[in-house]
Amino acid sequence: MKINSIRDVKNLAGKRVLVRVDFNVPIKNGQVLDDYKMRKNLPTIKYLIDKKAKLILMSHLGMLSPTDPPQSLRPVAKHLEKLLKQPVKFVPFKLGTNPELKLIDLKNGEVAVLENVRYAPDEKTNTGIFAKELAKQADYYVLDGFASAHRNSTSVAGVAKYLPAFGGLLITEEIAGLSKVMEKPNQPLVVLIGGAKAETKISVVKNLLPKADYILVSGGFFNTYLWAKGFKVGGSLIQKEFKTEILKYAQSKKLILPVDLVVGRADGSAARVVPINADFKITDSKLAIYDIGPATVQLFAEYIKQAATLIWNGAMGRFEVHPYEYGTFSLARLFAARSKGKAFGVCGGGETVQVVEKLKVADQIDLVSTGGGAMLEFLGGKKLPGFLALSKKAK
Ligand code: 3PG
Repeated sequence: MKINSIRDVKNLAGKRVLVRVDFNVPIKNGQVLDDYKMRKNLPTIKYLIDKKAKLILMSHLGMLSPTDPPQSLRPVAKHLEKLLKQPVKFVPFKLGTNPELKLIDLKNGEVAVLENVRYAPDEKTNTGIFAKELAKQADYYVLDGFASAHRNSTSVAGVAKYLPAFGGLLITEEIAGLSKVMEKPNQPLVVLIGGAKAETKISVVKNLLPKADYILVSGGFFNTYLWAKGFKVGGSLIQKEFKTEILKYAQSKKLILPVDLVVGRADGSAARVVPINADFKITDSKLAIYDIGPATVQLFAEYIKQAATLIWNGAMGRFEVHPYEYGTFSLARLFAARSKGKAFGVCGGGETVQVVEKLKVADQIDLVSTGGGAMLEFLGGKKLPGFLALSKKAK
């Protein structure tokens, strides 16, 4: 997939560039708790500063549902000052109104951050009102927030209709990495799917099944499978509505299923390894499946070691609670060790990123995608609105 890149634009000096980043980061008491996604947008921001452009950055922060509390981007703008080591202008506007913005006064190389775009109702409805207003601010539009590319909103897909639109450095790198594994993966292609919610993984399994040699599954997908086969799974997370689909895909010889699991209480107590055989049953609703077991780690490792291409999305278990981290951490380390050399390794999604950051192995992986939902939709074969906006010819 080819997109227009901001690197192809000559003479950016003095040009006003509206950049959609993804600064949707966790904040507590006005402090950014994890700035991973912000740091991933820095190469584009610094590139534009070096080119002496005038930058207007925009992002959402939380507020996906109308009932979510409003969250101002002001603390994020403050944090950006620290990352860039230069002042950042914050441009507020009122919650619940589509703002009429004065031209933001910027000198070459200066940076402004707009208030949370989700303060404007038309961010979501994307009728063009907010898009036109934003477009007045700039000569060019750049999309660099890969993690937002699946949202058909004003700041992601709308403004691109009114300005010459380009991909930033991060999004270009993410599209290249993901396209490589989707379009022409070196075989064997081994996919590792975990995560709590089966629903978001089904389209990925469906879309990757024809291309992949093996798909190793765990998490909510496998719990639901066990339940659908008639096993008692106690308080494990399942999604009954996907029973038929999961049973259908699990028939494929390409799907490799766990052979043992770690069952215990939510707080990590009473944890034990349980083999999957005819006697498997969890009758106590306070007990649930929280990790894959050691025999499964060994089994999955054999497939990972054969792979020339590796894709991984979703933790194998509740890695945040000891002792349920072993399955996820073991496979994450192996995944990283095989990447950048033996195999081309791509992983992503909120919790997956947390794991590789925690284990300090992100640098060993070919691509750690910032996208959660966006990566899943891409792997699921959907055309993301953000990319479509960049694929058109620049005006
Ligand atoms: C993410 O955190 O995955 C992105 O920032 C997208 O956030 P959203 O689901 O609120 O659109």
